Amino acid sequence: MKPAPVLVAVRDLNWSVGKQRILHNLSLTFPAGETVALLGPSGCGKSTLLKLLAGLTQPESGEIWFDDRCMASARFCTPPEGRQLGMVFQDYALWPHMSVAQNVAFPLRMRGVEKATLHSRVEEMLMRVGLEGFAQRKPSALSGGQQQRVALARALIAEPAILLFDEPLSNLDRDLRESLAHSMKQLLRQSGTTAVYVTHDREEANIIADRIVHLAQGQVHSITQNAGNPDALTQPF
Ligand SMILES: Nc1ncnc2c1ncn2[C@@H]1O[C@H](COP(=O)(O)OP(=O)(O)OP(=O)(O)O)[C@@H](O)[C@H]1O
Ligand SMILES: [Mg+2]
Repeated sequence: MKPAPVLVAVRDLNWSVGKQRILHNLSLTFPAGETVALLGPSGCGKSTLLKLLAGLTQPESGEIWFDDRCMASARFCTPPEGRQLGMVFQDYALWPHMSVAQNVAFPLRMRGVEKATLHSRVEEMLMRVGLEGFAQRKPSALSGGQQQRVALARALIAEPAILLFDEPLSNLDRDLRESLAHSMKQLLRQSGTTAVYVTHDREEANIIADRIVHLAQGQVHSITQNAGNPDALTQPF
């Protein structure tokens, strides 16, 4: 069964490299079912925050909560596989030896979903991301935009409680970036998943996000409501 969307909250997060403080008492709420874009200059800590949410890094102090479950603090850290996550990165991270269908099927195969169900779920997902007819191709025979659609399909098919994106469109040219951002927004709306979307690109954030969090030097600088997505006003931060 599809999991209910999760409210994610980080409280007083700190993370350093040596003496350099990268995240500074950072507190932020990601409302259930919304897409929040993290925007900010290079080096401000966007990917670091995403890695902390994913469980790839442990906080030095502070806490990370998914609904009423504390996922990480200085004392413990739930690993990524315990967090019901989907992740989509800039470099697609597809398995080159697998076909498109095998890549998308992978999370369900790991869960032991039986073959007939698996096949129909993959077909349906490929249709949703506009890749019907591409099932048997290898990633090397796809364009960058198509590869990123495969990565998105692989993340969505697992019906994660939370989706994390780290600059997923930044390898693509501007026109493609814009059209893919629109279709990603639609898919995120349909999935109802809580999503955190890191980008450098303000326009992309405006298309994708319900709220935009501007980070600067490891802290929240400001939070703006996305006027293009008025639905986002339904939940307070
Ligand atoms: N494992 C690490 N070891 C050393 N320094 C690190 C490590 N991870 C991050 N940093 C440093 O932390 C700072 C924030 O890095 P982060 O990757 O979070 O930035 P970012 O906002 O994602 O930047 P960009 O937009 O360029 O991707 C940078 O100065 C980076 O060099
Ligand atoms: Mg980064």
